[in-house]
Amino acid sequence: MADLPYSEKVMDHFLHPRNVGEIPDASGIGNVGNPICGDVMRMYIKIQSNVIVDAKFKTFGCGAAISTSSMVTEMVKGKTIEDALKISNKAVAEALGGLPPIKMHCSVLAEEALRAALRDYYQRAGLDAPEELKNEPKHTHEHEG
Ligand code: FES
Repeated sequence: MADLPYSEKVMDHFLHPRNVGEIPDASGIGNVGNPICGDVMRMYIKIQSNVIVDAKFKTFGCGAAISTSSMVTEMVKGKTIEDALKISNKAVAEALGGLPPIKMHCSVLAEEALRAALRDYYQRAGLDAPEELKNEPKHTHEHEG
């Protein structure tokens, strides 16, 4: 695969994605999709005492969507909900050694899947979600280029 604009880390997480699958007794499940490219992502999280103890995903999408889902599930494991909420799509892309600008929206999908799973957790638990989860999701609609 010559001259691909992807870092080694992106390729590694694409070819060997971590945490693929489902969590049967998940505390929260987030489903998001990008209506332009048609890629969809489902994220499962397990929360115990305010800590994300497990995270898995299923992504039907492009390589960058798979890599960012894989990376975000790795990043959230062991984090408190408050710390997980600080993870931005940019941080996920940076952890992967960067993404081409045209693929940044794929990392937005990963951030949104996590936030949707957290929102679902609060809803199921009958708890009031933190302010930052109440805001409307970012727009994943625009494709650059
Ligand atoms: Fe749509 Fe990557 S091309 S998420």
